[in-house]
Amino acid sequence: MPEAGTLHDAFIDELRDAYDAEHQLIKALPKLAEAATSDELREAFESHLEETRGHVERLEQVFASIGEKAQAKHCDGIAGIIEEGSSVMDESYDELAMDACLIASGQRAEHYEMAAYGTLVAWATAMGHTDAADLLQQNLDEEKAADEKLTALAEGGINASAAAVAHPDGDTETIVDADTSGAKPKPAAKRAGSR
Ligand SMILES: [Fe+2]
Ligand SMILES: [Fe+2]
Repeated sequence: MPEAGTLHDAFIDELRDAYDAEHQLIKALPKLAEAATSDELREAFESHLEETRGHVERLEQVFASIGEKAQAKHCDGIAGIIEEGSSVMDESYDELAMDACLIASGQRAEHYEMAAYGTLVAWATAMGHTDAADLLQQNLDEEKAADEKLTALAEGGINASAAAVAHPDGDTETIVDADTSGAKPKPAAKRAGSR
């Protein structure tokens, strides 16, 4: 019977997965940037692309710190997220809705990375790989900051602008008011017309 792998083996496996995910994102982020209409959103994707190149370098330092050769293993999770993102880009949404969708795709990737680095930091710390833990924490911090930046862009205008196209009369708000105030609801035709 083969000897059972340890947490250290699982750690190396997860590092290879993250290393591959970062490489996939280096190819995907320029497409998100190109599809963005908002200048700020495009710049956010472009600057995270630069950070992502740094993540690859840090991962190489992590491999070196534990005496391992940097090696990638196909990351199915991020591949799926990227594939979903590219099918959204094939849709014919208005520019503002598309920006909102690009943010949604970007945030899925950031959250996946945050989960992966959160685990890697915890495992490195538990096994006393302090240099690795420090480097991985730096990647984790940048993923969190990228996610927060996307939230700020969504909530700082892109969602509201996209919503204004979807609901030009602000009719959703009127319906909500009517429902909560107990006033007579809007006619059904009005609701059906508002997506
Ligand atoms: Fe990353
Ligand atoms: Fe990222």
